[in-house]
Parts: sequence; structure tokens; C-alpha cells
Amino acid sequence: MSHPRVEAVAGEARAAIEGAASSAELEAIRVRYLGRSGGLTQILKSLGALSPEERPQVGAAANEAKRELEALLDARLLATRAAERRRQRESERPDLTLPGRRPARGVVHPLTRVQDEIVRIFAGLGFSVAEGPEIETDAYNFEALNIPRDHPARDMQDTFYLSPETLLRTHTSPVQIRAMRAQKPPVRIICPGTVYRRDVADITHSPMFHQVEGLAVDRGITMADLKGTLTLFAQEMYGPRSKIRFRPSFFPFTEPSAEVDVLCFLCSGTGCRACTQSGWLEILGSGMVHPQVLKNVGYDPEQVTGWAFGMGIERIAMLKYGVDDIRLFFENDLRFLRQFA
Ligand code: FA5
Ligand code: MG
Repeated sequence: MSHPRVEAVAGEARAAIEGAASSAELEAIRVRYLGRSGGLTQILKSLGALSPEERPQVGAAANEAKRELEALLDARLLATRAAERRRQRESERPDLTLPGRRPARGVVHPLTRVQDEIVRIFAGLGFSVAEGPEIETDAYNFEALNIPRDHPARDMQDTFYLSPETLLRTHTSPVQIRAMRAQKPPVRIICPGTVYRRDVADITHSPMFHQVEGLAVDRGITMADLKGTLTLFAQEMYGPRSKIRFRPSFFPFTEPSAEVDVLCFLCSGTGCRACTQSGWLEILGSGMVHPQVLKNVGYDPEQVTGWAFGMGIERIAMLKYGVDDIRLFFENDLRFLRQFA
């Protein structure tokens, strides 16, 4: 039933289908032979121009070739598409032989590390942790601590006021008041937390910094207990040969008062930029709790005495790690932070 004119086109098409390597090529072949202006379609379209004898023969042959080629194309397409899908899946399968990617590990911030260390040392001495709010009232931050309004001592801590009665706490000392009002003596607490002052930032000052308050109230507590406790603290924090000094000072809520300095880590006492040439770096204020403060919280100063301190965590950390500018703690430069891994 075949016809040489049809066979010429059909043979070519069959060979092309056999040789096609992809579904895209097969689609192109379909267009080339069976499409609107394809080779076989042309033959069918031109039947009218043939002689009456030739017309049925060519027509039948062309229609048969068309059905055959369509079936051939469909079969090949099915097989190629399946192969193509398989190849795609293969290429997308994860390569389990590749080395793994390590997730980046964070490090504990040096200030958190030092705070944890301070808490650990005092917990070992029987102190427990107390906390208070960062937004405080004037009454707790100042009045109860024996710092009345318009008293010159208010100038010691330049304050961010939120309203005439509320402020960002300038120190952790108001937590002393909260703790003593909440419990009867004996009291042994430390209070870590963030504090705020309108201080101009420089290498040892930041407007936002951290303190740890310490408070011990009981019968018969003396200044010697304070000195012994802080000396032991310094040895735990900086090693047995570290050097501290007690320097007489003034706070309205302690009497007597002392500030504690540690020998400068940079110059070892000869004087440099970090210690403003003094050879020492101030880490804390302290003293015997003022009798008026004990009265303010309902304690009897004839029965109990106590000491308190407030230390700057940044200063402790600077001395421990030899950091010569406090601002490094707050810039979040990974090159700086990774050194504490
Ligand atoms: C106080 O804040 C007192 N409340 C401490 C105190 C508590 C005394 C209990 C007596 C009894 P002072 O203002 O000196 O004191 O601050 C205490 C420590 O905080 C300083 O020794 C210093 O280490 C740190 N400090 C103060 N201001 C800044 C600042 N701007 N940036 C970083 N650290 C600071
Ligand atoms: Mg001071």
C-alpha cells in the first residue's frame, strides 16, 4: 500500500525519530513532518492536483504513513520523557559524599561571662540573686537611699528621667531597698543588672552599662567583713597575686564609704591612657549601710548592721581580659567577640 512519493518522506521521518535524543527533538520532528506545513501534510494537501488514478493510492499511503508516524512519535516520546525525568531526579539527589557544613557557633558575650563568674563567686559565699526593674521610681533610686531631691549628691549620677517620678535606674542600689523591704534580716544578696547614666562615652564610660550590687545585713556585720569579702572576690576573679586598694569615698547611703581600685592591667601601676595616669582602675563603690537607709526599710540599726557594694561589670571585664576601651563591648564586632570563644 505504500507509494514511492510518500515513502521518501516517511522513511526520512522514521530515521529522524529513531535518531532523536530528546523529547524536544521529537516535538520538532512532529512539526517538521506532521505539522501544518510539514512534509506529509504537504502531500495530503496536494492530492487534488494528482491524476484520478494516482490520487487514491497516494492518499491512502499518506494517511497510513501519518498514523504510523504518530504512533511511533508517541511511543518514543513516552520513553524519552521517562528517561528525562529519571535523569532530573538523579541530578537533584543530594550528594551524601560531600563534606558537611558546620553551623556557625555563637560565643557567650564577655560581659555575660564576667557576670556569670561574679554570680558564681558570690553564690559560693552563700549569696542569692535578686532582681529589680530598670525603670525605677525616684523614691527607690534616690529617696530611700538617703539622696533627697535637690541634694548635691544627685549630681554624682546624671539621670535619664522619664517623668518627674520615674527614671532609668542609675545604679543597682534600689534593689537593696526592694530586697530589704521584702524580707527580714539576715540578708545576703547580689543583684546584677543594666543601669543608665547621661555619661559621655569615653574609654571607661558608657551611658548604658552593668552593675552587680552586693548586700549583707545581719547582727554584728563589720567593715572587716566587707574588706575580706571583696579581697577574696578579687583573688577569685584575677588570681591570688592580684592587687586591690580601698580608697575612702562618699556615698549618701553608706557610712563609712570606700571605693575599690584594681592595679591597672595595661601599665601595672605606672600610669597610662586606660587608668588616666593613676595606675589604678576603679571597679566599685562600697561601704557600711547608712543607719538612715536601714530605718527607711523598717530595720533597727541598733540591732543589725550591713555592708553593700556596687561594681561595674564592664570595668571588671576590661581588667580581666585587658580590653582598653569599654566601647568594644557594645560594637558587636565579631572579630572582637570571637576572641572569647
Ligand atoms: C554607685 O553606683 C553606687 N551605687 C555603688 C555603691 C553601692 C556604693 C552600694 C556603696 C554601696 P558609682 O557611681 O561609683 O557608685 O558606680 C559604681 C561602679 O560602676 C564604678 O566603680 C564603675 O565601675 C562603674 N561605672 C560607673 N559609671 C560608669 C559608666 N558610665 N560606664 C561604665 N561603668 C561605670
Ligand atoms: Mg565612683
